[in-house]
Amino acid sequence: MNILGIETSCDETAAAVVRDGRAVLSSVVFSQIRLHAPYGGVVPEIASRNHVQKLPGVVEQALAEAGVGWDAIDGVAVTYGPGLASSLLVGLSLGKALAMRLGKPLIGINHLEAHLYSIFLGADVPSADDTGAFLALLVSGGHSCLVHVQGPARNRVLGQTLDDAAGEAFDKGANLLRLGYPGGPAIDKASREGRRDLVKFPRSFQGRGRKKSDAAACAFSFSGVKTALLYYLRDNPETLADLGRVRDVAASYQEAIVDSLLKSTGRALQRIDCSVLAVVGGVSLNARLREKAAALAARHGRDLRLAEPRFCADNAAMVAGLAGAGEGVRGAAAFELDAEPNLTL
Ligand code: KG4
Ligand code: ZN
Repeated sequence: MNILGIETSCDETAAAVVRDGRAVLSSVVFSQIRLHAPYGGVVPEIASRNHVQKLPGVVEQALAEAGVGWDAIDGVAVTYGPGLASSLLVGLSLGKALAMRLGKPLIGINHLEAHLYSIFLGADVPSADDTGAFLALLVSGGHSCLVHVQGPARNRVLGQTLDDAAGEAFDKGANLLRLGYPGGPAIDKASREGRRDLVKFPRSFQGRGRKKSDAAACAFSFSGVKTALLYYLRDNPETLADLGRVRDVAASYQEAIVDSLLKSTGRALQRIDCSVLAVVGGVSLNARLREKAAALAARHGRDLRLAEPRFCADNAAMVAGLAGAGEGVRGAAAFELDAEPNLTL
């Protein structure tokens, strides 16, 4: 069964064709990063206008690269939330129109559930059935949470961020360090040659966790580290003129974010009986997070599972994949869907 997936929740215009929920025949992503970079963040009006302009071509390219015609498409899957309302509407409207025109099912997909599914994309990786329940650290530009995934789209959120998402902390930190946008890749790159121990930035929730409630033990907070960086730069204004020093501060800042993420992840691992730890979402591309997550998983005797890099950040293969696995809103209810900017797991 071939599903056409459409994803327009933020600043990536994406379409993909996935067979039987696993084999990715094509995955096309038009990144709007260049268009938003001058503003230091995503501008919703620019995002939706570009989705309108680019999406039809991106969908046609996804079919062409998959080597299939419209007659080979058995269903259309589209992200309906969470995300930017005006961006979601573009994908949802095209998805509805295509499904109607083709006379095929429309499947509404939750973007966060799609990220959780991303580790199952690819014919050679273990399937959802083989993996069973797992713990996922979902870290993106808009979300940071620890989730006990009991099956595709059967999720229990153990804890989440109390303020910023991890990706936001990277983006805002990079902005303060004048490293450009998007901040995650910029801090990742700058940190490679930086001293991680130059500044001891605060880690959230480093106190003893055993007596805390599950939600408190598995929560995150990044406003403290962001404020600490702001104060550091105010008190050490010479930093920004010295690239070597910027790299050191970036590496120290990244280390604090990674440690905070993994502290709560370790606590969740103590509470959850499963053999796999997955890290998904755009921030899972971070080299230091990958390295330390691997060490954490090994310490706890768990297998670390990451999606292929091209499926970590926003893409439509994860949307089509989850629909191909039988999940999502279906039938007449799918055609009734509206964009849901605040949809949760
Ligand atoms: O999952 P995603 O593509 O979009 C959302 O659903 O939000 O995640 C985007 C986030 C951005 O905040 C970006 O800075 C971050 O992922 N990111 C990274 C890296 N690559 C992307 N953060 C840290 N290190 C990276 N290498
Ligand atoms: Zn995302």
